[in-house]
Amino acid sequence: MSTATHVFLVGFMGAGKTTVGRLLADRIGRRCIDLDRAIERLAGAPVARVFELEGEDRFRELETQALLELGHEPASVVACGGGVVLRPENRAALKRMGTVVYLQVTAGEAVARIGDATSRPLLSGPAGTLAATSLLAARESLYRSVADMVVDTVGKTPGTVTGEIESALESES
Ligand code: S3P
Repeated sequence: MSTATHVFLVGFMGAGKTTVGRLLADRIGRRCIDLDRAIERLAGAPVARVFELEGEDRFRELETQALLELGHEPASVVACGGGVVLRPENRAALKRMGTVVYLQVTAGEAVARIGDATSRPLLSGPAGTLAATSLLAARESLYRSVADMVVDTVGKTPGTVTGEIESALESES
């Protein structure tokens, strides 16, 4: 476990990072920060709009900026966007700044949970499940490479997942 302070939730879109992040933050008495919302504040526009107008590269730059700015924040639970692990500098920052929890989900369950994917530009369109399958396959090893703990979310409620993380954090402290 890292000496730093945040608890980062990483994993694919639809893994439940935002929902579990809020629950976990409540349980352990911390603030929950949603990295996508921090990016939107920097951009002054919703995520889908940043992709549309400025492209994925610009989104990734803002994502790195938002992540690095967390170094100035008090210990929080941070729900990261699914692509945060793509840049090596982000992976190093996650490891340096906190404990990383990988919430695992299958591509099929992720797509089913997400439903309307208009706010997820990488999954919107008729080939959503196909896109999810190949993106997840490409990222799985990156999620694992940063993870201090891996929690399987398939078939579990957000409350159950949160309880598992809380117990694991307690046993590590
Ligand atoms: C992305 C995941 C999204 C958001 C953006 C890109 C990704 O966040 O950051 O659409 O590359 O997986 P969620 O995982 O919270 O949906």
